[in-house]
This record gives sequence, structure tokens and C-alpha cells, in this order.
Amino acid sequence: MNQPSSSLMFHAKPAGPVSGDIRIPGDKSISHRSIMFASLAEGTSHIYGFLPGQDCLATMNAFKAMGVNIEGPDEQNNVVVHGVGMHGLKAPEQAIDVGNSGTSIRLLSGILAGQAFASEMIGDASLNKRPMMRVVTPLQQMGASIRAADDGTPPLNIAGGDSMNAIHYPLPMASAQVKSCVLLAGMYAQGTTVVTEPGITRDHTERMLKAFGYPVSVDGNQVSLTGGSKLKACDITVPGDISSATFFIIAGLIARQGTLTLRNVGMNPTRIGVLNIVAKMGADIEIINERKAGDEPVADLIVHASELHGCDIDDADVPLAIDEFPAIFIAAACAKGVTRLRNAEELRVKESDRIQAMADGLEILGIDCQVYADGIDIVGGQLTTGTVDSQHDHRIAMAFAIGSLRSSGTIHILDCDNVATSFPVFVELANEVGLNITQEIVNE
Ligand code: S3P
Repeated sequence: MNQPSSSLMFHAKPAGPVSGDIRIPGDKSISHRSIMFASLAEGTSHIYGFLPGQDCLATMNAFKAMGVNIEGPDEQNNVVVHGVGMHGLKAPEQAIDVGNSGTSIRLLSGILAGQAFASEMIGDASLNKRPMMRVVTPLQQMGASIRAADDGTPPLNIAGGDSMNAIHYPLPMASAQVKSCVLLAGMYAQGTTVVTEPGITRDHTERMLKAFGYPVSVDGNQVSLTGGSKLKACDITVPGDISSATFFIIAGLIARQGTLTLRNVGMNPTRIGVLNIVAKMGADIEIINERKAGDEPVADLIVHASELHGCDIDDADVPLAIDEFPAIFIAAACAKGVTRLRNAEELRVKESDRIQAMADGLEILGIDCQVYADGIDIVGGQLTTGTVDSQHDHRIAMAFAIGSLRSSGTIHILDCDNVATSFPVFVELANEVGLNITQEIVNE
């Protein structure tokens, strides 16, 4: 007999003020990379402040399945990785299940292309709809025998044992995942691999490769490395995730009152597009205690409730804020006037089609939107009440949850289970600072 399946629903009631002092959990992108590089390094690495979200745990489990001894995360979210060296991974006994995680499958494909063994990567229903030719094409050009399903989606099958050659690859889209995939494969290739980006994307791979002692050169929008060097164990302190902090930045801004302090926010210049965008919308945010966490800049933010106005989002900020748009759209819905976004077609191939998923939910909640192939216009207004579908997308679920700070009634949000992929303590922290979110397990 089939078990009835269940899903998690959020009920977010109008609330506020938003105030308090909270620490932001570890950065997802950096947590993934810390496991990957520490596993391939020679020696033992300590990772402090790892994000224990399902996506990063999927990466951790993948390396455990390939014979890497990894301890933790402990209660402080510290992890110890006993690296096996560039050629020390073992063939996994079964397909590697990366769940919902695009970063795992795309970065791992670069590493697996350089191994002597065959491998397969599978994912969940949402990942199985996402485009993989963006990594398959350059890896094939480098000599890897890798294939996706006929429609270019997972599973990915990698033959292994290919001798890889370096390439010069102009990225067709601004994607840090594709850039990283090609660079990771480049470590196993003969010659110098050069990747050129059409717009600056997050540079955590480049920074962390250097921290692990792998020579990388960066010249404007061009990154290059030569195959055949080694990674040496090092200790990584993971900064707080600015993408997670964004839900609290926007919550603090749209709340009718209050001051919210966010500690330990990663301030890497390739990630701070959200701060540029809300500054243009009239946000009152103080940045204090600027410091370094390992190789990454970090600061504390003091967010004051602000009267926001709509703006035209600068194209250069799009890749720098790519994961922040669901929350930014909520800010736009609460702002005076129109906010316009263009050149953001990449939003359509995230964990959901984030342009359409947000437009559908905002319209249910009484906000006027005009959708374009590569963007949206949002007319600020009054959020009402209703049931919106997160499309199993963690960031859509969290965005609508904070929208409740300015809604006239409860916002019910379907399919919120995947919040645990990036931000397992979201509801707890949100309620601590003044939101009113209850959770319900619904049997289907
Ligand atoms: C990520 C890059 C971005 C981002 C994703 C994490 C990374 O994806 O959306 O959440 O860690 O490199 P794209 O490279 O597809 O833009």
C-alpha cells in the first residue's frame, strides 16, 4: 500500500514590529565548496560554521560515498574533513543522489569528469527539470564522456577515465556554477583552462582554490588555472549567507517599525547586489564591524524600517543578486511606485521559474505585475490574503512568508519543505524577531 505523502505548509499572519539581534547561518555556496576542496586536499581541514542545510549535506554525502572520512557537523556546525588528495576518491557504489541541489550536481560534474571511475548523479523532481547542457557542453569539449537525459536534464552519466584537455570557454550566461564546473574540471586537464564571464558572478571558487594553495589567476572577467597542481588542507570559516540574510533585510525594511541587527553577514563584493538595489529603493541600513572571515569579507548590518520606493534595477546588479529576487520582489510590492527588472532570464531556470512563480503569488495577493521573458514590472500596493504556491522553491516560500509583515490577512504558502535545503532555522529566527509563522504538515 502506498504511504500518503505529506507536505509542509506555512501560515504567515500579519505581524511586526521586526526587531532583535540575530546571527545569520553559514553561506550555502561556500559550505558546498569547502567540502569539495577539503575532500580533494592533502591533509585534514576544519570547517567552522558550515551550513547544515539539505543541499550542503547532499554534497557531504556524495564525498562520503566516494570514500572521504568526514566528521560532523557538530552542534557548532563545525566539520572535519580528512582529504584524500586529487586522485584519492573511490567509485561510489550507487548513483549519487544530490536531491534539490543545483550547485552539487553542476560543480560535482566538473570533478567527476576528471576521475578514473564511472559515476551517475540523480536528483529530485525539481532538479530533474533543470538545464544541465550548460555543464555537459564544456565538459564534452574538454574530452569528458558525459551525458544528460535527452532533454538535457538529470540524470548525468559520466564514463570517467577520459584524458581531459584545457579549453578557453566564454560562458554563454553569467553563471558561477558553470564557471566553477569548468575550473574544477580544469584542475584535471592538460594545459591552461580559461573561463570568461559575460558579467561578474560570485567568486567563491577562485578565492577558495587560492586558500587551498591551488594557483588561479583572475584578470577582470577572465579566470584561468593550469591542470596538475594540488590542493593542501586548510581551515575555512564560513561567513553568514547574505542570501539567507536577505529575507531578514527585507523583513526589517518593510516592517512598519523596528530595528533589526544581523550578525555575520557575508559581504563578498560579488554577492552584495541586494544591498545596492535596496539602497536605490531608499533603504536605511548601517554596515558595521566590517572584518574578514578567512578569505571572505563579513559585516554586521543594522536594518531600520524604511519607506521604500520603486526603482529600475541596474543590469550589473542582476548576477550579484541572482538568488535575492524573490525577496526583492516582496520589497517592490511594498514600495511606492513601480520596480522594473530586465536581463534576468536566468531566474526562470532556478529551483522554480522565479519570475512566474512570484508573479502568480503576487497577483493572488492583489499586486499588479507585468511579466516579461527576462524580467518583471511590479507595481507597489497592498498585499492582501490568500494561498500561494511556492512551487517547492525554498526562496519563494520564504519570500511570501516575510510578505505577511505588510499583508491585510494571513498568507498561506504551499510546499515549504525545501526551506530546509538552505535555511533550516528560518521559521525559528523569523518568529524570534517578530514574524508570526506557523507550520502545518498536510497529508495529500
Ligand atoms: C551558485 C550560483 C548561482 C546561484 C546558486 C548558487 C553557486 O547559480 O543561483 O544558488 O554556489 O555557484 P548560477 O550559477 O546558475 O547562477
